[in-house]
Amino acid sequence: MLKKWPARVAVGLAAVFVLMQLVPYGRDHTNPPARVEPAWPSPAVRALAVRACFDCHSNQTVWPWYSHVAPISWLVQRDTDEGRSKLNFSESNRPQRKADEAADEVREGGMPLWFYKIPHPSAGLSPAESTQLADGLAAMFGGGEGGGEAGEAGEAGEGGDGDRD
Ligand code: HEC
Repeated sequence: MLKKWPARVAVGLAAVFVLMQLVPYGRDHTNPPARVEPAWPSPAVRALAVRACFDCHSNQTVWPWYSHVAPISWLVQRDTDEGRSKLNFSESNRPQRKADEAADEVREGGMPLWFYKIPHPSAGLSPAESTQLADGLAAMFGGGEGGGEAGEAGEAGEGGDGDRD
């Protein structure tokens, strides 16, 4: 009797895993069409943001296969929805309420989120790259002690018609 326990637990876990896939949340892995980017100070700064921020803060999210598998899909959905709602580099035609905090987030190491860097090692920025990105973001959106002038955060409705790559 007792010998059957491991098998039962395994079957139970497998059933839970299958049922999780039926939850509708986390399947809306789309990229809205808007592609109005802010005026980047240089292509290099944009490239750093693409590497470290775009998956959660743009409409050019790359959705890897595991982002379609629950429960990872739920996490990815939440991070992308929340990230876009605070700062979306693809919707500069609209005010981005947290844009002025972007430089500080990079300086303080709060962004990109640490766990994102595990499957995305290229999002890990060297100290020099972090400084370059933070200074660029400060120049675009203001914010941060590091010399960015307070600007019209995120409301420049022009520039950046380039594609992600
Ligand atoms: C894995 C997804 C992910 C990545 C990558 C990411 N962010 Fe975020 N970001 C979020 C989420 C989720 C939130 C909202 C929750 C929070 O503040 O922690 C957020 C919040 C923010 C905020 C608002 C902070 C606040 O006070 O609410 C800023 C600014 C920001 N991110 C900038 C960046 C920048 C700049 C990068 C790239 C260096 C980046 N993020 C990379 C997911 C991400």
